[in-house]
Amino acid sequence: MFRIQLEGAASDFACHADDTVLRAGLRAGLALPYECNVGACGTCKFELLKGEILNLREDAPGLSARDRAKGRLLGCQARPLGDCTIKLRLDDACRPAVPPAMRLGELTETRDLTHDIREFRFRAQGHAQFQPGQYALLHLPGVTGPRAYSMSNIANADGHWQFQIRRTPAGAATGILFDHLRAGDRIGIDGPYGIAYLRTGVPRDVVCIAGGSGLAPMLSVARGLADSQAMHARRLHFFYGARTPRDICGEDLLRQLPGFGERIAYHATVSAAAGDPPWHGNTGFVHELVRDTLTPALSDYEFYLAGPPPMIEAIEHLLLVEHGVPPGQIHFDRYF
Ligand SMILES: Cc1cc2nc3c(=O)[nH]c(=O)nc-3n(C[C@H](O)[C@H](O)[C@H](O)COP(=O)(O)OP(=O)(O)OC[C@H]3O[C@@H](n4cnc5c(N)ncnc54)[C@H](O)[C@@H]3O)c2cc1C
Ligand code: FES
Repeated sequence: MFRIQLEGAASDFACHADDTVLRAGLRAGLALPYECNVGACGTCKFELLKGEILNLREDAPGLSARDRAKGRLLGCQARPLGDCTIKLRLDDACRPAVPPAMRLGELTETRDLTHDIREFRFRAQGHAQFQPGQYALLHLPGVTGPRAYSMSNIANADGHWQFQIRRTPAGAATGILFDHLRAGDRIGIDGPYGIAYLRTGVPRDVVCIAGGSGLAPMLSVARGLADSQAMHARRLHFFYGARTPRDICGEDLLRQLPGFGERIAYHATVSAAAGDPPWHGNTGFVHELVRDTLTPALSDYEFYLAGPPPMIEAIEHLLLVEHGVPPGQIHFDRYF
């Protein structure tokens, strides 16, 4: 166990020899800045003032050539080799409401949602504590580095952690999940992480926008809203953007929520309509459907987004630049 001192802070925090600086800080309840946890976004950058660090992912895209030249490191890829002193700016938005922890989860069940998205259900000891919209890091046998996956269910006392995962062609983690993991197998589940969680105290109608494998956290937000007192006073617009008709999913799961068809509406669109099954619905990108469906002003809504970076960028442009939605009303984690 090593001690990590933040420059200028009164106290330090403990970090296990096999943990990372970022995760150890979050486990200690500190507001260390982060987003993806896998070395891609660069939000967790810091400067090492004293001590030695093992860089777990030398080629991580989250560091630019300039960052490397300046000796910057990524907190999510930094394993201390002794006591360290580091310099970074805390971000109060990242302070964990539920400090992340590692547990073993046993695969209990899987089911296919589409031709390439499968739901994986795990059970772990103790309460499954997380906020709707958060994610966990799955540690899979034979895969270098954990992978981030969003929970699709909501917190529960029975230790159920559910994920909806899209198979990536030749993907290391999804290859293990889809082709090798069997019911009864156990993996490490580390979480919760993520700041794009449901805010129940906000008096605005809610818009969830999911693209591709972003279904899970948006479903979790919808389920969390339906489970809260807030749903009685609010409406939920759920948008799903798929590539082809056979990629469409989520409506059957939303239909199970109380208020579907009255206070909850599902809207889907495909960017390539040709294919099987025949498609007679909306075509185009999901941000275009959001623009054409919602009654202005868009600043009257609270937005939750999940999907690939180009989708998030297109929606951010629509909301922030074209419609002046305050940034504090837009919550997302990019899927790298
Ligand atoms: C916050 C977040 C939430 C996500 N939620 C979901 C979800 O709910 N459902 C879903 O289907 N997908 C989700 N993803 C994407 C998912 O994490 C994987 O990127 C995807 O499944 C491909 O993984 P793979 O190993 O099969 O593919 P590969 O092509 O083998 O790996 C690509 C991914 O692995 C990461 N990576 C590569 N090497 C390392 C390493 N050494 N250490 C750590 N990471 C490494 C890359 O940054 C990239 O994300 C999420 C991603 C993020 C960031
Ligand atoms: S690069 Fe570390 S949180 Fe994204």
